[in-house]
Amino acid sequence: MELYWLSLVPIPFFTWLLIELVRDEAIPIPLPKDTIRQMLKLAKVSKKDVVYDLGSGDGRIVRIAAKEFGAKAVGVEKNRLLVWLSRKMVGNKGRIVHGDIFEENLNKADVIVMYLSHKLVQQLKPKLEKELKKGAGIVSASHPIEGWKEVERIRTGHFYSYLYKIS
Ligand SMILES: C[S@@+](CC[C@H](N)C(=O)[O-])C[C@H]1O[C@@H](n2cnc3c(N)ncnc32)[C@H](O)[C@@H]1O
Repeated sequence: MELYWLSLVPIPFFTWLLIELVRDEAIPIPLPKDTIRQMLKLAKVSKKDVVYDLGSGDGRIVRIAAKEFGAKAVGVEKNRLLVWLSRKMVGNKGRIVHGDIFEENLNKADVIVMYLSHKLVQQLKPKLEKELKKGAGIVSASHPIEGWKEVERIRTGHFYSYLYKIS
């Protein structure tokens, strides 16, 4: 009975989650590992590539891109706790930048991978157009980039992932 207050602990977390969802921000939901492999294959990631995961969460995309595809992988994440956790997960296989995806320069990227919200994906469009080199690939899970012509789309679980190329 005295421990009743413990049941209130999740309330601030779920309130935050609800607010983030209403604001169409990207909440920390990790992609299944097989979906990540499908997305990296879609972008034909190889050891020659520099791969950026925008909003890298627990670092699983960085880890798989580096370990299984031999890429030089970088994650950008704003959440301090996830940065700490993902640095542990990734070790020396890749790099996790603690920062905002809108602030990080992407001109070294050959491939961008992202699993964000619809709003964030559209907001990133001018930055991707400005900074990415010709031929760079972008794979967006679940949210297409409005106004861009996709190269290919594949079914990944209950949503599509979309591949684009900078021309
Ligand atoms: C849906 S999760 C995806 C995690 C990981 N990429 C994956 O697919 O498993 C989105 C992540 O983006 C991060 N994020 C959202 N907005 C961001 C921003 N402006 N700058 C950096 N990270 C951001 C969130 O903290 C969250 O960890």
